Amino acid sequence: MNEKPQHIAVIMDGNGRWAKNRGLSRSRGHLAGVDAVRELVRGCRELGIPFVTVYAFSKENWQRPEAEVGFLFELFLQFIRQELPELMAQDIRLNFIGDRRDLPFTVRQTLDYALRKTADNKSMVFTLAISYAGREEILEACRRALADGLKPEELTEEKFRSYFWDPALPDPDLIIRTSGEERLSNFLLFQSAYAEFFFSPVLWPDFGPRELRLALDSYAARTRRFGKTDDQLR
Ligand code: FPP
Repeated sequence: MNEKPQHIAVIMDGNGRWAKNRGLSRSRGHLAGVDAVRELVRGCRELGIPFVTVYAFSKENWQRPEAEVGFLFELFLQFIRQELPELMAQDIRLNFIGDRRDLPFTVRQTLDYALRKTADNKSMVFTLAISYAGREEILEACRRALADGLKPEELTEEKFRSYFWDPALPDPDLIIRTSGEERLSNFLLFQSAYAEFFFSPVLWPDFGPRELRLALDSYAARTRRFGKTDDQLR
């Protein structure tokens, strides 16, 4: 039996299909997805899970139609503005991973403000992965290590991690992906080495407290061996 996960990371998939099933525009699906994000953060805060990360936009997502990308960034902006009082009230620190150079100026500005404002909050860390790509994070870490003139023998795992977008973010214990898709899509590639996976058939806007409970129950029932034998774990 596992303790509850310390870090849950979520690949929120299925907004488009959720909307299509209802004859609505993709934007309406993303809007409904925001409510599910809010519910997730509340639920995890109540359960005392200290780290929650959501994959809100990948580097690959820049290839989507311009109007959809524009809409999503408007949503991120609104979400950060609207949720700030709640984050403060709940003592939640907002955090960011991704390639900040890609972010539109207003988003960067608003995000930076919210990051500063919530910096001392202690009860939970809520990380937005925006313009995130695991391979790019690894490559960028290599580039920065090389630029620092690091010698090959100095590059330990710990040192390498210090070049990641957020070196202080612990590895995810549980990665949830919704909508029945079962792949990582360039999310937390290095960090997911020992993560447990939970694939939910539910489309992201329908992911609520019940589905979170199912994911946590499934996680609790697993044996995490980290390469050791059962006997060594006893
Ligand atoms: C994947 O569904 C979802 C996204 C690429 C965007 C995620 C954004 C949200 C959940 C809303 C805003 C989030 C925050 C943090 C405010 P999809 O569009 O790929 O769905 P499909 O596969 O059914 O087309």
